[in-house]
Order: sequence, then C-alpha cells, then structure tokens
Amino acid sequence: KQFLVINGPNLNYLGKREPEIYGSTTLVNLENSLKTKGEALDLSLDFLQSNHEGVIIDAMYKANETCDGVLLNPGAFTHYSYAIRDCIASLNIPVVEVHISNVHAREEFRHTSVIAPVSAGQIVGFGLFGYEMGINALKNIAEGKE
Ligand code: DQA
Repeated sequence: KQFLVINGPNLNYLGKREPEIYGSTTLVNLENSLKTKGEALDLSLDFLQSNHEGVIIDAMYKANETCDGVLLNPGAFTHYSYAIRDCIASLNIPVVEVHISNVHAREEFRHTSVIAPVSAGQIVGFGLFGYEMGINALKNIAEGKE
C-alpha cells in the first residue's frame, strides 16, 4: 500500500517552531523515521510539506489517482479551510487527520476542525507518535477494504 503524508503550513519549521508545543524533532527527522517505520509495515510513503492551500489540494487529487490514502496535518487550515474540506469530500481514498498538539486543550479557535467530518478519523495530542498511529490506521482501513 502507498500513502501520502502531507504536512501543512508552518510545519516546515517543526523542531524550531514553538518547541514547547511541537517538540524539537525536525520535519526531515520525522519523515525519515516514518519512512523506516512504513517499510517495516510493508508500506510505501511519500511526503509533502506545503504552506499553500492550493498545493495541498492539488496533491490530494493526485494522490486520489495514485495512492491508497493520505495522512494529513492541515496545520491552521484545519480550523477554517472549506476548500480542503470540499477536496477531501471529493476523494475516494481515506484521509486521516493528525495533530501533534492537543488542540482541544489550546485556544478556542483550535477546538473546531472543519476537516474532521470528512476525515476517516482524527488523531490528536500524542505528539509525533500520532503520525505512526496514522499510518497504522490507514493500513488497517486499506486492508479492510480488500
Ligand atoms: C497543529 C495544530 C494547529 O492548530 C496548528 O495551527 C498547527 C499544528 C498540530 O499539529 O498540533 O499548525 O495542526
């Protein structure tokens, strides 16, 4: 199975950005360790980080043709991007939403996800381990559909 892991806005600064909230591991380190974990699960993982809504949307339509699922950390787009939500609603493949921090324990505006109703599920608050949970969840969904 093949999955695309998308990190949205400001996650290029993972490790440097508010480390008290998001930790000190960089995006490159996260992606490398996920790739290894994916291989152990017989999964092929592709990675994308973008600060641009349209780039994320284009990548998800492409993934819909080439991949079995998407693991998405939409960053702040989570809370207001109806464009990303509409895109996910148009796809045939599952999208799992992941957040590093516990958004429910933070500012009020982070308590709402416009993505959640169209996602296969949401993983929130477990740090970078959430990504590992996410690829396992996608694998489980993809194999269940066989
Ligand atoms: C985040 C939570 C969002 O509220 C925030 O805008 C992010 C990261 C997380 O992974 O915890 O950029 O998605």
